Amino acid sequence: MRISYVGLALIGFVLCDGHSVQAARQQASQSTSAQGNAGAGRAVFNGKGVCYYCHGVDGQMEKRPQLAADTAALIARLSPPPADLRNSKTLHLKNDKQRAKAVREGHPGTGMFPDTTMTNQELADTLAYLALLRKGGAAAPK
Ligand code: HEC
Repeated sequence: MRISYVGLALIGFVLCDGHSVQAARQQASQSTSAQGNAGAGRAVFNGKGVCYYCHGVDGQMEKRPQLAADTAALIARLSPPPADLRNSKTLHLKNDKQRAKAVREGHPGTGMFPDTTMTNQELADTLAYLALLRKGGAAAPK
């Protein structure tokens, strides 16, 4: 069932009404204060956040999971393609406020859809994990 999650979420994003976007905005504005834990963030990244579908397991682009053919095709068609979160030279966003917004509201002009299911703590943890990846990418933080 999880395999079709990205496809469903993409459809959900298209159908998404103003109300849930509004709710996500309110959460986003509260989300930058919590302290993040990179280890917990890794679990979110490779788990319920489904970040690994597009960005690869542990942010390693060559390690994408085996997905249903239609979902994989959808991701392959994304333009621009998903960012390499381990390569700080090619990343565009400047700070965690922008990154939190990208996760909560979707990354503008790209196929990255909003995540409305993470708690503020999970978001803070994910941001801490992203910071670790940018620093040289420990695949398995202790
Ligand atoms: C459907 C595929 C998809 C999923 C799922 C996805 N992303 Fe993305 N992500 C993208 C694309 C496409 C971009 C834009 C790349 C670009 O602008 O060059 C992006 C960009 C980003 C950026 C901005 C990078 C920069 O330029 O600074 C961050 C941070 C990011 N994603 C984190 C996440 C996190 C965390 C998750 C999980 C909550 C996630 N993504 C889930 C496709 C995805």
